[in-house]
Amino acid sequence: MTKPIKGKGLINITNHLDENEKTAQLAEALATAYGANPAAAREIGDAAAIHDIGKCKIPGHILNSPNRLTPAEFEILKTHTILGAEILADLRGHFGKMAREMCEFHHEKFNGKGYWGRYAGQLPYYVSIAAISDVYVALTSERPYKQAWPHHKAMEYIKNQSGRQFCPMLVDIFVSVMADISKEGNAFGKK
Ligand SMILES: [Fe+2]
Repeated sequence: MTKPIKGKGLINITNHLDENEKTAQLAEALATAYGANPAAAREIGDAAAIHDIGKCKIPGHILNSPNRLTPAEFEILKTHTILGAEILADLRGHFGKMAREMCEFHHEKFNGKGYWGRYAGQLPYYVSIAAISDVYVALTSERPYKQAWPHHKAMEYIKNQSGRQFCPMLVDIFVSVMADISKEGNAFGKK
């Protein structure tokens, strides 16, 4: 499903990728840098592409709200994680397990202060990869309630979350992968 992230020839393609595909490409690149072999990295990218599938069960007025969500609305939004894992209940094997864990835990944080307060410091590496990819793509994309952040501002945010929202080792890998991508002129390398 995912395509290689690097290379100037992909600029026009990657500019038009939807957010799930961007997340998938980034996750695959991070998994490769983490040491996964090409097939495993591809699987991580493919699973990351569907980490937010549970959002299809969240009412549009919450998903697309231009305003800060009320506490009650936020509680509903949080359930997209569990709903996603339920939707993928029949996916078998390692891919199914990985995809369900990405759905359920991609809003967990390294410091344990995520949606459900689970897995502090012990998130499976592929979930952490999906989470950091998701955050970068979300920050650099437009939302009803915000403009797209420029690349440098998103990088600043992610570096600042090292040891808080994200595992420090993964942040280091992320920074180095993004530096490589920027050098090669990929669409993700917006300055
Ligand atoms: Fe999410």
